[in-house]
Amino acid sequence: MANKIIKKEKLAENIFRFVLDAPQIAKNSKPGQFVIIRINETGERIPLTIAGADKKRGNISIISMTVGKTTMVLEGLSKGDFIEDLLGPLGKKSDIEKFGNVICVGGGVGIAPLLPITQALKNAGNNVISVIGAKSSKLLILEKEMSLASSEIYTCTDDGSKGYKGFVTGKLQEIILEKTGENQDFKIDRAIAIGPSVMMKAICEVTGKFNIKTIVSLNSTMIDGTGMCGTCRVEVGKETKFACVDGPEFDGSLVNFDLLISRQNYFREEEISAIEHFRKEHPDVRCKLES
Ligand SMILES: Cc1cc2nc3c(=O)[nH]c(=O)nc-3n(C[C@H](O)[C@H](O)[C@H](O)COP(=O)(O)OP(=O)(O)OC[C@H]3O[C@@H](n4cnc5c(N)ncnc54)[C@H](O)[C@@H]3O)c2cc1C
Ligand code: FES
Repeated sequence: MANKIIKKEKLAENIFRFVLDAPQIAKNSKPGQFVIIRINETGERIPLTIAGADKKRGNISIISMTVGKTTMVLEGLSKGDFIEDLLGPLGKKSDIEKFGNVICVGGGVGIAPLLPITQALKNAGNNVISVIGAKSSKLLILEKEMSLASSEIYTCTDDGSKGYKGFVTGKLQEIILEKTGENQDFKIDRAIAIGPSVMMKAICEVTGKFNIKTIVSLNSTMIDGTGMCGTCRVEVGKETKFACVDGPEFDGSLVNFDLLISRQNYFREEEISAIEHFRKEHPDVRCKLES
């Protein structure tokens, strides 16, 4: 039955994968697209990327990091439960073609939207180098799936518990210097970076120095997801764009990240108050905003 949770899996502390019965969305979805979910009648609408689609079985996967009220409610659902509304696929599909050498960089739960794009780039014949990072090894997700979709993969953790110790930006710069320095003919043709806005901004600063075109996926606040409400507006190349219909992917060198970050914090007081109300009724559930 449509919108039913057919599988729930814990990928890391506070990060869950849900497989949902959604034949129409599975049939039409392409890498880079997302759904807007409303868990119950009184619930808020939130966007989550389609992290996988099985067209034959008619299901999609979404991966959610618990950061606030709605993702806390989602975490509380189990196999057999239903999501009230599931709207999608939304947004433009990723630009997938044979570029040559492509670097895919994912941070935290940003690795979830990066996975289907990486798989599609590899299937299109690209040489895919992936760099994935998290705060610690316990929070690193989808390493095996990303590894299968890449020719080379590098892992990074802020605390050094796995792979390179430090941010993905440091490792990325090291890889670019190593690859292009030792072989003058080796050109990195494109980079894709998905993660927190500050990470994507920092990645674009690194790739900008080497003139590597870098695509980012913007996680601006969204409500309707259809270009009507204006909540998701972002500034790209000095023009106003709606991330839900014009994106969510854009050329990172053109994005005004500072404006995006300040707009993401716009509803912080309301978000904290929603968590406080929810916590009174569900004292056991923890989320990232509280840690
Ligand atoms: C196109 C797109 C794809 C996304 N894909 C994923 C994904 O695959 N996995 C994942 O874990 N997260 C994803 N996100 C972020 C996810 O939508 C937010 O984490 C979620 O909305 C938080 O809701 P909340 O009520 O739990 O938290 P809140 O306490 O309401 O908010 C916590 C933070 O989440 C963000 N947020 C809150 N409401 C929204 C909203 N309506 N739209 C966008 N961001 C919001 C804000 O930055 C906010 O500060 C995506 C966002 C976008 C725009
Ligand atoms: S979410 Fe409303 S215009 Fe994009």
